[in-house]
Amino acid sequence: MADFGYDVADYCTIDPIFGTMQDFDRLLEEAHRRSLKVILDFVPNHTSDQHPWFLDSRSSRESPKRDWYLWRDEPNNWMSNFGGSGWEWDEPTAQYYYHSFLKEQPDLNWRNPAVRIAMYDALRFWLERGVDGFRVDVMWLLIKDNQFRDNPPNPDYPPGQSSGNRLLTLYNANRPEVHVVVAEMRTVVDSYPGRVLIGEIYLPVKELMAYYGQDLKGANLPFNFLLLQSAWNAEAVAQVISEYMNVLPARAWPNWVLGNHDNARIATRVGVQQAQVAAMLLFTLPGTLTMYYGEEIGMTNVPITPEDVQDPAEKNQPGIGMGRDPERTPMPWNGSRLAGFTDGRPWLPLGADHATVNVEALEQDRNSILHLYRKLIALRRKHPALIDGEMRSVAADQNLLRYERVDGDERFLVLLNLGHSSVQAATEIGIVIVAAGSYREGERVDNLVEVKGSEALLIKIERSSTRRADS
Ligand code: GLC
Repeated sequence: MADFGYDVADYCTIDPIFGTMQDFDRLLEEAHRRSLKVILDFVPNHTSDQHPWFLDSRSSRESPKRDWYLWRDEPNNWMSNFGGSGWEWDEPTAQYYYHSFLKEQPDLNWRNPAVRIAMYDALRFWLERGVDGFRVDVMWLLIKDNQFRDNPPNPDYPPGQSSGNRLLTLYNANRPEVHVVVAEMRTVVDSYPGRVLIGEIYLPVKELMAYYGQDLKGANLPFNFLLLQSAWNAEAVAQVISEYMNVLPARAWPNWVLGNHDNARIATRVGVQQAQVAAMLLFTLPGTLTMYYGEEIGMTNVPITPEDVQDPAEKNQPGIGMGRDPERTPMPWNGSRLAGFTDGRPWLPLGADHATVNVEALEQDRNSILHLYRKLIALRRKHPALIDGEMRSVAADQNLLRYERVDGDERFLVLLNLGHSSVQAATEIGIVIVAAGSYREGERVDNLVEVKGSEALLIKIERSSTRRADS
């Protein structure tokens, strides 16, 4: 638990602090009974330094597992993503090993075929048990330069940022050979019906697209993190959408991520008032969406006092905003003292607002963000146009972001006000089927519609009078 689960000491069991294999099987069964899928987080770039493979590898230079990790006589200049050098001196065998993250997370050598076989076996272990797929941790980091060349300096490195950003990651990330590994993982996953391969990849959009693979035989879904990084204004978001859709390979399935455990919560990034607008955006974009627990009740980042810090990213480089604890706090189910989350002491504090921002309270309010999320989930199931309909006419006008989703005869107009004052938007004849931030569902619109500050409307366009006359 040096990095809270991202330091795996055994790929084929359940850590007793979370339960047993029996608990896991039951979870899977109960989820499947409810038509839910279970996707595991697979962490292949590094193991824990407690993993038997690493214990063996570090025991002697002659160990058969020596080459399973990255050992060198001299370090190069590669940094750890958690700050400082990525190389750790290991006295017993007098060499350095490389770690992209903590020194407790030594990187595996993915150029070694035996490593690949062992890791694919781990995938099969869980696929056999019935899991529906994997989210692959730091997929773009798996393979490093075979000559261990030094990285060039990052000309845009502003002081005050993580020292991990001081260099460009030219030689320890996104190496061309990584695509072979991704394709192999896909082959393993595809040998079982109906499973999915998702990749965690932080790269500029063009490089990201390569992870769909040749003939789309790479990741089914290379995570699209553009919305996590975009400024929150209509023009910037419109540009992100157009850019992504324009470079998406033919027949590739798009996806959008609004939040995760490594980034500030959306309600904190864009403001509580805009959280519903963001939800409407996410659910009306094409393809698969990823939301993070707690966003459906509008949770915000919880300030963490220095004594409460858990995240090693914060401990290693305090005070420059590296910590991820604020977005990892307990889910508030109700207004009781421990929010119905636990009877014990949670490992991170509850938000100060949990008396009002909790599932039970928001369930009582028909206009709450929780009900909006539920409505949007149901709506996507009912209207395939929202999932795989064409994305049309993306445009920004001041604070208004608009686009259409079209599938055959079904046409939706999405109007999102990313600002705080009213705007007028042109529309055809239609009916508001979801209003985020107001009670306007069922309202008929025609010609011009007012969209209030922090309001979002999903309008189902009905056949225009001219078309009706034609048909
Ligand atoms: C990924 C995870 C992050 C973790 C890191 C190291 O970025 O999302 O939480 O710390 O990999 O495994």
